[in-house]
Amino acid sequence: MAEQYVAAVDQGTNSSRCILFDRRGRLVSVAQREHRQLFPRPGWVEHDAEEIWANVSRVVPAAIRQIGADPSQVVAIGITNQRETSLLWDRVTGRPIGHAVVWQDTRTDRLVTELAGDAGPDRFADRCGLPLTTYFSAPRIRWMLDHTPGLRQRAERGEILFGTMETWLIWNFTGGQNGPGLHVTDVTNASRTMLMNIETLEWDDELLAAFDVPRAILPEIRPSSGVFGTATEVLPGVRIGAALGDQQAALFGQTCFSPGEAKCTYGTGSFLLMNTGQEIVRSKHGMLTTVAFQIAGHPATYALEGSMAVTGSLVQWFRDGLGMIHTAAEIETLARTVDDNGGAYIVPAFSGLFAPHWRSEARGVIAGLTGYITKGHLARAVLEATGFQTLEVVDAMNADSGIALTALKVDGGMTANNLLMQFLADLLDVRVVRPMVTETVSLGAAYAAGLAVGYWPDLEGLRSNWHRAGQWMPHMDPVRRATEYANWQAAVQRTFNWIR
Ligand code: G3P
Repeated sequence: MAEQYVAAVDQGTNSSRCILFDRRGRLVSVAQREHRQLFPRPGWVEHDAEEIWANVSRVVPAAIRQIGADPSQVVAIGITNQRETSLLWDRVTGRPIGHAVVWQDTRTDRLVTELAGDAGPDRFADRCGLPLTTYFSAPRIRWMLDHTPGLRQRAERGEILFGTMETWLIWNFTGGQNGPGLHVTDVTNASRTMLMNIETLEWDDELLAAFDVPRAILPEIRPSSGVFGTATEVLPGVRIGAALGDQQAALFGQTCFSPGEAKCTYGTGSFLLMNTGQEIVRSKHGMLTTVAFQIAGHPATYALEGSMAVTGSLVQWFRDGLGMIHTAAEIETLARTVDDNGGAYIVPAFSGLFAPHWRSEARGVIAGLTGYITKGHLARAVLEATGFQTLEVVDAMNADSGIALTALKVDGGMTANNLLMQFLADLLDVRVVRPMVTETVSLGAAYAAGLAVGYWPDLEGLRSNWHRAGQWMPHMDPVRRATEYANWQAAVQRTFNWIR
């Protein structure tokens, strides 16, 4: 019998990819297409959802073609996606209403301050597990409905649909352009909207009223792993077995199925998630309470999350915005031309500062400049910014969970950078471990979809697919570590209180 595969579709911030996995969790084929990043004004970030769907419909057949397979060899599709990026579209024509507003976008800055009022940013945290910031979908939906004339009325009449990227993709995969598609989301993505009650896992009337979002536009919330429906487009006849936010998918792909297990994914942004089991842990130190995953027929598993908005995208900015390097990989070579940061620190508060600060008004700084600083020092400061942000998150996570992390499982594109991995181990003073398959986002989506259709029998079987490929041990002198961290914290203070 011909080999069978699960197709993971990862709709990320920069690109859309399709990766095929075999039964042993091995990556057998990858196809990828980048989409445009639209920056219409300072702080605004948009994507063209039609461009994204066009890319997805091309990468899926391309991944299958590449290994000479037949579409009938694909047993399930698992969808994973950039979270919080929000889109409205016309239920009948399927045409998006404007661009998708991306999770990094800060246009709702004033709105969230107004909504926080005297209660402060944690006004809704009890209900949805999240602080009020520009990061999540609800303020963005409100903004979109308020800024297109007549749209709110159309939304109330049920003519408009809302979705994050998995909703948009499933709707299109199930024929939304040619008739009614499925309008669904999963608990992990819904947990990032600020509209879902974190306990009941349902849309919450009080939150809908507070953000003035009509219920009629919202998709149905489903478990993350379970058959959503059958594709009629791109891979007709193949079941969609999973949908989950990319960071939750990475937690799943790293097989962090038990409470206390954690991973950090280093991509455009970086996200550290710790499984807290069926317990909803409320953070006192700036972590988010979020849904980790739900397998159909089982209760949800929760997580604490520390989100860093700008890590890999700082390297991108160093390359494209400043023109300091030609390829992202060159940053390591440039950083190795010097022994240390020379006293320079870059705090990349491009979208305000996320965890653990949650300061939407913060703006980035380069601190500690002297005439001594070269491109090499700045390259180091770019990489080190990721390390320092991780340390802030780990400190907060340790304080919340009451357990000190002893090792950190890492994955994502930036983990190819050995200098950064060593710096992370040094700064966190723990072992940093990288698995064989670093495409854990896609792997997690594939696992969740494969479980739903019986391609893999259970979670235990998946654990045995996890193999370590890289490990870094801490070596940094504690006094130096403390000095570096103190300097970083001083630089962070300089990002606050800008006059707008
Ligand atoms: O919350 C945003 C996150 O899901 C984006 O991930 O990897 O597409 O940058 P990524």
